[in-house]
Amino acid sequence: MPLLEIVLYPDPILSQVAKKVEDINDDIKALLEDMAQTMYEAPGIGLAAPQIGKSLRMLVVDVDSGEQEQGKNLLKLINPEIIERKGKAKGEEGCLSIPDIREQVVRDEIVKIKALDISGQEIVIEADGLLSVCLQHEIDHLDGVLFIDKLSKVRKELIKGKLKKLVKKRK
Ligand code: CO
Repeated sequence: MPLLEIVLYPDPILSQVAKKVEDINDDIKALLEDMAQTMYEAPGIGLAAPQIGKSLRMLVVDVDSGEQEQGKNLLKLINPEIIERKGKAKGEEGCLSIPDIREQVVRDEIVKIKALDISGQEIVIEADGLLSVCLQHEIDHLDGVLFIDKLSKVRKELIKGKLKKLVKKRK
């Protein structure tokens, strides 16, 4: 399975609103499988299509990515949308596109998500804990939003130096 290259901050594709997937064809299915393998290899617990250079509304998540029986809890979601949100929770996040930075982010505690699976069936997922955080983080990627965009001005100012280093590395 070919591994895909992960796009790094500050690549402009990470700030774009991704396009809806109109046709779940074999190319889309193959891309989602490659994204899953790329996520496991990274390793990470979520990966959105813009992070591999495709501006499409789809993502993979597996919060049990490190477990031995890999793939058991893998979700491949197409055109996901948050349809309900409850409560607030704060937790530490990182991102495969923003290496070496981990920050506390405030998110909704429980979310209900509607999406299509690879057979085009509509599925609804209610998530809390790590899955909730991960799904919100990945869906944000589809709207061109990064977790560092959610930080307070003060906090963002404090990590400015680290971000600049990443920008330099990319040039
Ligand atoms: Co991310």
